[in-house]
Amino acid sequence: MTQNTMRLTVNGKAYDVDAAPDTALLYVLRNDLVLNGPKYGCGLGECGACAVLIDGVAARSCVIPIEGCAGRDIVTLEGLGTREHPDPVQQAFISEQAAQCGYCLNGMIITTKALLLRSPHPTEDEVLEALRHHLCRCGAHIEIMRAAMRAAGHVVEAQT
Ligand code: FES
Ligand code: FES
Repeated sequence: MTQNTMRLTVNGKAYDVDAAPDTALLYVLRNDLVLNGPKYGCGLGECGACAVLIDGVAARSCVIPIEGCAGRDIVTLEGLGTREHPDPVQQAFISEQAAQCGYCLNGMIITTKALLLRSPHPTEDEVLEALRHHLCRCGAHIEIMRAAMRAAGHVVEAQT
């Protein structure tokens, strides 16, 4: 497919990107815009590592062609917060030390954020349902659930 120039809005900034319209959004984010929060995991839409918010909804950027992204509001992990002022979801993951290698965390955080945008006080079942299609090869699921529950405003008991 031929190259096109396409305007994308990412983390509140407009970027003119030269790429074929069927290029996966993930490649543009990582390779052209140097936004490396979204990770390449499976490349098949199955693991969730590449998640971003598109118009406030979690989407798997490895299977989304950029031609469908013009005029949409794209937010990556970098757009949620800063090191000095992390988003409350990011802070919850830090507080729970919810990571081993950290590779899956982008997707876990983005999807938790999307859940809270549409449902500010989700139940545990809703949190589980939101995250159940995200893979964590390290097996940090318990800490990740604790972090997501903390972000959702639930009281998380101290670990023994
Ligand atoms: S890399 Fe996109 S879902 Fe796995
Ligand atoms: S912490 Fe390593 S994949 Fe989840």
